Amino acid sequence: MPARPSHRPSTRIARSIALGSLATGLIVASLAGAAGANAAPGGTPGPRYAPGSEGAGDPYFPFAGNGGIDVQHYALDLDYTPPPPAPAPLEGRLAGVATIDLVATADIDRFNLDLRGLTASSVVVNGKSMAFTQGAGELVVTPRPRLKTGQSATVVVTYGGTTGRPTDIEDALYGWVTTRDGAMVVSEPDGSSTWFPVSDHPTDKATYSYEITVPEGRVAVANGLLEGSETADGRTTWRWNAPDPMAAYLATATVGDFRLEQYTAANGTPIIDAIDKSRQPAQYANLARTSDMLTFFEGLYGDYPFVSYGAIVDNDSVSYALETQTRSFFSSSAGLGTVAHELAHQWMGNQVSPGRWADIWLNEGWATYSEWMWTEHNGGQTADARFNALMSSSSQAAWNTVLADPGPFGLFGTPVYNRGAALLHALREKVGDGVFFDIAKQWVARFGGGTATTADFIALSEEVSHQDLTAFFDVWAYQPPKPTSW
Ligand code: ARG
Ligand code: ZN
Repeated sequence: MPARPSHRPSTRIARSIALGSLATGLIVASLAGAAGANAAPGGTPGPRYAPGSEGAGDPYFPFAGNGGIDVQHYALDLDYTPPPPAPAPLEGRLAGVATIDLVATADIDRFNLDLRGLTASSVVVNGKSMAFTQGAGELVVTPRPRLKTGQSATVVVTYGGTTGRPTDIEDALYGWVTTRDGAMVVSEPDGSSTWFPVSDHPTDKATYSYEITVPEGRVAVANGLLEGSETADGRTTWRWNAPDPMAAYLATATVGDFRLEQYTAANGTPIIDAIDKSRQPAQYANLARTSDMLTFFEGLYGDYPFVSYGAIVDNDSVSYALETQTRSFFSSSAGLGTVAHELAHQWMGNQVSPGRWADIWLNEGWATYSEWMWTEHNGGQTADARFNALMSSSSQAAWNTVLADPGPFGLFGTPVYNRGAALLHALREKVGDGVFFDIAKQWVARFGGGTATTADFIALSEEVSHQDLTAFFDVWAYQPPKPTSW
């Protein structure tokens, strides 16, 4: 970084604007003077404030995430009251205080957070109350003093409201899904804004901590490690800490009538499972394979990347499972293949996350292929047999899809899963096992903690294999028909 001239004078002026202690005309004149001084020849230009954009720039979800800010940490203090017994409506009450540490990535006089269906009652930036407005899905904050590039700020949003059962653009339940005994909290791709003010795009990873207060007897399960719980006046506060950088869609604060089961896996990872007390053993028995699977996937992808793991098995359904970071969510039972799939996502999707939602095959293709490989390792159908069966099926939707651009309504369609897995199997055959698993390990090592795109994957595959894979990826990822030669 080149040395910057002191910004002190303009900072002081900005502060006085906030205090309203000077005549307006004088301030404008002084600001112009300060900017002129900063723009002196040879100097770095002074700040040029503009609003941060209302989205991170993802073509599929233009309003998800926010420009001008980079969130470092969310400390979420949630107070939740589940619905009363039936026949009362499935509506809960959520009151939250989100303390958000962020860094400005531009000189901003305004920035947005994503917040949907809940009402903010106050916004405090660096200890001072700020003006804000709320529109559809967006909380708009005007920090004063304005924030310069690289400046950090602590934003405290107090908010709350009634919780229901939100849905994504495909009408699938997601976000804070209210249940009779609590909530299922699973937010892929852009549902986190239904429960906290957030920069809701995978490119803005952050660490998280939680204090979740629920009626005594209910358990709140979040990501990472359980730090403790305290009960007072009939309410229990559950404290969780998730120190590994995490995309917002992978955060959870699921509440229910859970039994917590804690043990250490063979690889040393602490496991915390949360099983709804109504579940029968057959509905969660497959979780007993978690330790073996961790060892198996560590062999393929490298060390397990996070502080803990575990599963949540609830008694209501969003009709899918989700790889919530360190704590995979299963709606009402956990099938063996799905247990492997969600665990593999911890490397493929969570440690390395999609740079844009169009890159979703990098999550689902890898997780599905991991499921194939686990099944083979476990004495079931081989990955090769799965691949051949898929390739010989002519009616497959997989053969009419652009894998690397499935569209926002095709994110979780079977083509993304199956064709994605088939691509990886074909790549493995093309470059050989040694190179293929080298690519897998380097993918995690190089992009772990952040995001990567299809272009990154192609470049890495070519680098590690020393092959020109243009034609391979063209027929597999960019042309819709079934590949015939590659
Ligand atoms: N990623 C999940 C899986 O492992 C699927 C999530 C589906 N989400 C949704 N909003 N439909 O399969
Ligand atoms: Zn998946």
